[in-house]
Amino acid sequence: MIKKEWLEKGFIDEPVESGLDLKKEIRNLCREKNAVIMAHYYTEGVIQDLADFVGDSLALAQKAAKTDADIIVMCGVHFMGETNKILCPGKKVLVPDLNATCSLAESCPADEFARFVAAHPGYKVISYVNTTAATKAVTDVVVTSSNARQIVESFPKDEKIIFGPDRNLGNYINSITGRQMLLWNGACHVHEKFSVEKILELKKAHPDAKVLAHPECKGAVLKLADVVGSTAALLKFATKSESTEFIVATESGILHEMQKACPQKTFIPAPPDDSACACNECNYMRLITLEKLYNTLKYEWPEITVDSEIAEKAIKPIHKMLEISEKLGL
Ligand code: 13P
Ligand code: SF4
Repeated sequence: MIKKEWLEKGFIDEPVESGLDLKKEIRNLCREKNAVIMAHYYTEGVIQDLADFVGDSLALAQKAAKTDADIIVMCGVHFMGETNKILCPGKKVLVPDLNATCSLAESCPADEFARFVAAHPGYKVISYVNTTAATKAVTDVVVTSSNARQIVESFPKDEKIIFGPDRNLGNYINSITGRQMLLWNGACHVHEKFSVEKILELKKAHPDAKVLAHPECKGAVLKLADVVGSTAALLKFATKSESTEFIVATESGILHEMQKACPQKTFIPAPPDDSACACNECNYMRLITLEKLYNTLKYEWPEITVDSEIAEKAIKPIHKMLEISEKLGL
């Protein structure tokens, strides 16, 4: 029975029995219910360690499309759960806290975006995966930070394109492809916060360190970067690089996997400009806790639902992205 107060809160706040080995119980529940736990790199390390699969937005969508589990528990934010539900309409998709939204997805309300698209006839519409299902429904092709460049370049050079919602990613893709896509004016509140001054100070203190940055960062931060890429691309670079020190300008959860993959290397989180804290966390991703994950599996709630008419439209640009990515070996 789902309690009224859970519905109001958007998560289950049932206290867990003291002394319970939560990690063991979570794995048992997964086995019993044929559930799979997927986690984004920005979740707490303890969640990443428990997950069956940890990845970036593209890898999580690719994995969801192929899973034979009955239940997908998406330890990430709401739009990731929606993408999984659209790809797997017959499966139960759970996100442990419905308050785990995304400032970037919210910066692009579907009705306003639809009006913007309607005001620009003849334009193709490319949307970043960090959007609601309703925004994807008015999109021609979805991209993630792992495949945005290649998908944009798959369009003829003179194609008129609207790119939403991230102005930073859009500007970056325009700069490396020479395109002039029309950009929606959205941004991620976490990636916009990195401080150029503090990164410069870190570079001075660690002159051999490579700067790794996610393309959602402001242009001034990207200019300081040795490598710009998705979370998976940054992890891959750090693993393969001969360098031993890295300044990392993306959500600090990724440092967990980086440190695990390269225990002998040093990863320094790039700091935000508005706090004394050394690292920059996504408050939405960090809503996913071990207790909520346990309760979610136990009660099979909160469940993600997507309106069937919206899902029918949104599946097309998601499939297109997966098809192009497969063709390009991404
Ligand atoms: P990735 O595509 O690198 O996983 O990024 C997702 C995200 O939310 C970045 O803020
Ligand atoms: Fe959204 Fe930014 Fe959090 Fe990524 S880091 S989920 S873009 S709010």
